[in-house]
Amino acid sequence: MNIITTKNYEELSKKAAELVAQQLQQKPNSVLGLATGSTPLGLYSQLIKLHQSGQLFFKDVVTFNLDEYFGLSGSDEHSYHHYMFANLFNQLDIASANIFIPDGLIPLTEIKRYCFDYEQSIIDHRGIDLQFLGIGNNGHLGFNEPGSSFNSVTRLVDLSANTITANARFFSDQNLVPRQAITMGLATIMKARKIVLLASGIAKAEAVRQAVVGEVTELVPASILQQHRDVTLILDPDAASALK
Ligand code: PGA
Repeated sequence: MNIITTKNYEELSKKAAELVAQQLQQKPNSVLGLATGSTPLGLYSQLIKLHQSGQLFFKDVVTFNLDEYFGLSGSDEHSYHHYMFANLFNQLDIASANIFIPDGLIPLTEIKRYCFDYEQSIIDHRGIDLQFLGIGNNGHLGFNEPGSSFNSVTRLVDLSANTITANARFFSDQNLVPRQAITMGLATIMKARKIVLLASGIAKAEAVRQAVVGEVTELVPASILQQHRDVTLILDPDAASALK
């Protein structure tokens, strides 16, 4: 694992944006795996800046998002679909046909087929070149909660109580946090050619430590990253503080 500890969140975001710029320079039609949550917001602002100043273009880029709340429509302000358009896509030159985000309103009877097709669509695009990840304070990746199989692929999952509490900050009432989500699996994530995990803040320090130097166990989903050949962690000093 390549570990970069930055001075602060702004530098973390700039470093992450540099990796995107390098990737798109090498391959303008790269397939990017994207994450939501608070952590990548700085990265997304940097990408918008680079695009608006004529330094970075997304015309041929394809994106696959990690996950979406089940039961929320893409127009719901809490959906990850809405988040991605508001915080990134609306400000870029990306083609809407190249954007893939799981649909939270797929009927239960069609979920299996839908998740299979999402997985297949990644394969049809020749796989993810560069996958961005956050990490939950319980070590989750996407919505692969502790106990998720390392062989898991895209599927419908239940959110852990820990995640529901952590994500309640985005909702007016904890009871409004969806209880289920569609998420890429750990095996899906591990197939990406390069992985970049971003973590900021003291609440992530222990999860980062377990992911990097802890036992590789399904109880800490992010620990699987120790088995990937090309993983970079970009951390701020607080998130890195338990690694010493
Ligand atoms: P955060 O979420 O970036 O909002 O901290 C990360 C995660 O839960 O995976």
